[in-house]
Amino acid sequence: MGFITPRSGVRPSPLTHMRILGIESSCDDTSVALLDCSPAGCFVMREFTASQIEIHQKYGGVVPEIAGRMHAEKIVPLIEEILKNQPHPDAIAVTAGPGLITGLLVGVEAARALSYAWDIPLVRINHIEGHIFAPEINKDEKENRAKIIYPALALVVSGGHTEIIYIKKPGHHQKIGATVDDAAGECFDKVAKLLDLPYPGGPKISELARAGKTDAIDFPRPMLKDNSAKCGPVYNWNFSFSGLKTAALYWLQKNKLSEAPTASDFCASFEQAIVDVLIGKTIRAGKEFSPKTIILAGGVSANQKLRADLAAAIKNNFSETQFLVPAPAYCMDNAAMIAMAGYYHAVDKNFTKWQNIKADPNWELA
Ligand code: KG4
Ligand code: ZN
Repeated sequence: MGFITPRSGVRPSPLTHMRILGIESSCDDTSVALLDCSPAGCFVMREFTASQIEIHQKYGGVVPEIAGRMHAEKIVPLIEEILKNQPHPDAIAVTAGPGLITGLLVGVEAARALSYAWDIPLVRINHIEGHIFAPEINKDEKENRAKIIYPALALVVSGGHTEIIYIKKPGHHQKIGATVDDAAGECFDKVAKLLDLPYPGGPKISELARAGKTDAIDFPRPMLKDNSAKCGPVYNWNFSFSGLKTAALYWLQKNKLSEAPTASDFCASFEQAIVDVLIGKTIRAGKEFSPKTIILAGGVSANQKLRADLAAAIKNNFSETQFLVPAPAYCMDNAAMIAMAGYYHAVDKNFTKWQNIKADPNWELA
């Protein structure tokens, strides 16, 4: 396995300073990234992403068959482009699940082929673990972002997931909360659809919400105080968002958005209801687990209101807990986060042989 000259000029150990190729294709983005990693941190050398959003917008959501075909079209040109004039990477990290099987297969098979052809070690990465490490990604050599200090608590909120994960020490994940029905991002997307906003609706709702009043409509805060799950997985900090989605639907059937409340008021009130529930649960979990770091990650972590309100709540409730959130560019699905998580596995030599790697659409991190 080769290695490159480190920034310090000191000859590195090949397993602590390396360049990692990340591959992500679990949903509607084909993404590849090349990261330069060392114990000082990882920075992005290059990243290329082919988004399929415009195609799926016509259908109001991701169509798995179309997604698979698009990933298959894009993956080889993107890998060729990212490795142009570059030596082979030292390791390949690929998302093996959870996600759409049609997309996962494309990324995993590309990684398998490269690992075999170049004799480069392979790391299989859980997509959720990638999101958890996204706050550590440095956009370039100059940036020096804080690292996770353990124990840590991660609130992962995306279109497919709403989970609280307790990480006692690196690699020891314990899911302590999950949605019993819709994910928070899914709730944003479905309510956006009711408002005829294009997919994905989360960013559009939060854009409109900026000019609205958060207390214009009194939407419910489902399971804010209630820990017990009546259905679904039994965790102590469960969420439920389908009732909020239904409340939004009923409100729109009974009322008209006009002068007051405006569409902005509707969006601001709806967004605040989601934010209050996410924050309420995370702070209560924080009081029980006393983490040194609270991480907010996943596509919904791009939401400015959630970022600001959670930062304030952490400051008010915990004096010694650092709050980590990805730079906006690394909130949504991306390959840099997969390479970032891959670095820690590679340091631990936690490799998977190319003969054994498998895509697992239901892979549970914890
Ligand atoms: O992590 P991600 O890119 O894909 C999944 O793994 O699901 O997350 C996409 C989700 C979508 O539901 C999208 O509406 C939501 O993240 N999202 C947002 C915002 N930006 C993206 N939701 C609320 N506010 C935002 N600013
Ligand atoms: Zn994601």
